[in-house]
Amino acid sequence: MENKKSILCIGAGYVGGPTMAMIAAKCPDYTVTVADINADRIARWNSDSLPIYEPGLYDVVKQARGRNLFFTTDVEQGIRNAYLIFVSVNTPTKTFGAGAGKAADLQYWEKCARLIAETADSTKIVVEKSTLPVRAAEAIHRILQSNPRGIEFHVLSNPEFLAEGTAIRDLENPDRVLIGSMTVPDSHEAMQTLVDLYAHWVPRERILTTNVWSSEMSKLVSNAMLAQRISSINSISALCERTGADVSEVSRAVSMDSRIGSKFLRPGVGFGGSCFKKDILNLVYLCEQYNLDAVAKYWEQVVLMNDYQERRFAERIVKAMFNTLSGKRIALFGFAFKADTGDTRESPAIYISRMLIEEHAKLAIHDPQALPNARLDMKGYEDCIEYCEDPYEAARGAHAIAIITDWHAFTELDYQRLYDSMEKPAFLFDGRNILDHRKLFEIGFEVYPLGKAKLSHMVHSR
Ligand code: NAD
Ligand code: UGA
Repeated sequence: MENKKSILCIGAGYVGGPTMAMIAAKCPDYTVTVADINADRIARWNSDSLPIYEPGLYDVVKQARGRNLFFTTDVEQGIRNAYLIFVSVNTPTKTFGAGAGKAADLQYWEKCARLIAETADSTKIVVEKSTLPVRAAEAIHRILQSNPRGIEFHVLSNPEFLAEGTAIRDLENPDRVLIGSMTVPDSHEAMQTLVDLYAHWVPRERILTTNVWSSEMSKLVSNAMLAQRISSINSISALCERTGADVSEVSRAVSMDSRIGSKFLRPGVGFGGSCFKKDILNLVYLCEQYNLDAVAKYWEQVVLMNDYQERRFAERIVKAMFNTLSGKRIALFGFAFKADTGDTRESPAIYISRMLIEEHAKLAIHDPQALPNARLDMKGYEDCIEYCEDPYEAARGAHAIAIITDWHAFTELDYQRLYDSMEKPAFLFDGRNILDHRKLFEIGFEVYPLGKAKLSHMVHSR
């Protein structure tokens, strides 16, 4: 028999783990179980070496684990015990069949829905925590309702807006919590159950309730709009490099308009992460399904501009280094898709590394947290890559350093020491504009910031 204060989350990944840890920490009157088919991941959630690197996460987990937070591989038992079931499994881009390359692959979600329908022996509230296409709740509800025992299910949409690297801060103090419910009888009560849960720590005015389609749509649109801002400023960085304007100055000037605001206008090597690209492509696919081709093309351009930015960065390296990288050692500082995470999913580093290797460069990759994932991403390229725990070792004998990730630690390195150990001329490509370019130039580097003029000692350099 289920207890109304018993929660299950299926999927112990970057979202399921931290989100449930926060709920358990903030709601000691609830029991929270996180279940996953990946036994290794669950073992790590139960250990001192968590499966993901996220600042502050360990303290939150430690506070609740064993008290009212549990990690298990027994999904079925979890379903039977719980009243509220969050499903936070992965929803990657489909790689096969209809919609391949754009549509979301819903097979993991559907498996969970079917298992819940088969296993449940009492009423459940099923919560979409994963990011799903608009109208997914309809399909999920139909699968659940097809159970032969006449058990009743309520489906809610409760998308997650946390960003990696700041997940704990985002969960503790969210801009908003969004809850979408279907307009079937009793769904109001289900929605209230979820509102009451979040109200343990989130002010009521930040808990937004909508219809379920708006909630599903809002998640896709939030990511699309954030990514759109990055592609917009990145497109301007290319123009700045040609015209002598400085993209940092442009970004600052533009963002001081309070209607525009300053966030997500940092130019870089392109956005990465498991979601921006996949969610925009999912939106593009939806538009195509509804014959809204102009709308689809508009959003697709955000992704195409990102591909262009990654390619442009690698091409600039080749061009600056006399059009040949053959046999040259290039130190890549950073492989994670952003600072403060070990996650490398869709990291621009993957694409840039491949392009440099195609030019026969030898890479020395350093990252404070992401080397294990980098090794997996770059499997098959072992002959051309050295993985270095120490940035000074990566730079020794290198012709260039390329900053790929905006780790704060990179701003604190001794660049004179790095320079002294490198081949000359020593190039530095700052793909995140986090370093003091004038100082680097004075040390002797050929400096290539992003979206602004290079600083070169070469007499005939243009
Ligand atoms: P993830 O790959 O880290 O985790 C998903 C987990 O689900 C995996 O551990 C996998 O083993 C498990 N799983 C898959 N099928 C299962 C099944 N049938 N039964 C039990 N477990 C199963 O993914 P994630 O990054 O946590 O993302 C999950 C969802 O949240 C996605 O839809 C994503 O778009 C969305 N999202 C992610 C983020 C983020 O920062 N990563 C933020 C907001 C939303
Ligand atoms: C993003 C969103 O910010 C979250 O709200 C959302 O929940 C999540 O996607 C998701 O759905 O998965 P995340 O990808 O973890 O979070 O990290 P971001 O901080 O958004 O950064 C994404 C990428 O954009 C990174 O590669 C980052 O370096 C890049 N970025 C970000 C820029 O290049 N410039 C900026 O100004 C901001």
